[in-house]
Amino acid sequence: MKCLFRARGLAALALLGGLATIAVAPVRAQEPIVIKFSHVVAADTPKGRGAERFKQLAEQLTKGRVKVEVYPNSTLYKDKEELEALQLGSVQMLAPSLAKFGPLGVKEFEVFDIPYMFPTEAFLGRVESGPIGHKLMSKLESKGITGLAFWDNGFKVFSANKPIERPGDLKGLKLRIQSSKVLEAQMRALDAIPQVMAFGDVYQALQTGVVDGTENPWSNMYTQKMHEVQKYAVDTYHGYLGYAVIVNTKFWSGLAPDIRAALESAMKDATAFEHEIARKDNEDAMAAIDKSGRTKIIHLSPEQRAVWVKALLPVRSEVAGRVGSDVIEELVKEQAAAGLH
Ligand code: LMR
Repeated sequence: MKCLFRARGLAALALLGGLATIAVAPVRAQEPIVIKFSHVVAADTPKGRGAERFKQLAEQLTKGRVKVEVYPNSTLYKDKEELEALQLGSVQMLAPSLAKFGPLGVKEFEVFDIPYMFPTEAFLGRVESGPIGHKLMSKLESKGITGLAFWDNGFKVFSANKPIERPGDLKGLKLRIQSSKVLEAQMRALDAIPQVMAFGDVYQALQTGVVDGTENPWSNMYTQKMHEVQKYAVDTYHGYLGYAVIVNTKFWSGLAPDIRAALESAMKDATAFEHEIARKDNEDAMAAIDKSGRTKIIHLSPEQRAVWVKALLPVRSEVAGRVGSDVIEELVKEQAAAGLH
């Protein structure tokens, strides 16, 4: 009996001690909070540099309460796996290209893949920061994902081991694409054979001849060394490559409000930085490819580019059922309002 009382007494003391600890220690998540930010491109690209800038600002603004670990170049996950990992909470932040949301069930993002739909960077900025951009980001919520920002890369060029000047020059070639049905329709409109493949596998596929060519902005082509295994590239600038910076919603909404506010502020500044550097990074990459002498760059005249525009125009109506004819109409209206036609 005595023993029991003693045991009870100790238990009561332990409980009191526990309560005292609870009363004095603020309830906080374990710190530092780690944000794993995984991406598939090289560190020295607009996205890679944007991620590093976010890390620097986030750690500084939260005074070290948040630690951001950036994993570039598919070191952690490839394209498809990274989205699954985000939903499972194995990583907290990603910046997949807008072309990679289709397999997740958010096919409306593929509107950004429609050829020649976004003639200028200013127009892209207008769309992304306006109602269309907001509507698209809100579609991610039902997938357990929160969209934080749109990031930029640039306009894509075609590359292959034969000279490409006219749309017909791609006929019969196996061309690697991202996992977008709009890109698939684009390649079929050119009589090419689209092959969906993870970004991290492209260099080897080009080197071994599994595919004949691909499309990407200069910055990705150069930093993945694709120019070493592609003899020609043509500045069609037919499509846009941009990103949505996304987080796992459960993780994001579980953060203390002051931490979240600091991270939002870091993201705002990192986004401005990323947008600022994208164009120059691509210009520098094009110059570096040219200087390497490995890939011959074919520059199109406005008349030559108009032929590509005409050849790819049918893609717009072909994919309307998938991405939504209302959003395409809105974009056409926006183009007119921006004085683009
Ligand atoms: C690609 O797969 O070609 C690009 O989306 C890679 C990237 O993230 O820029």
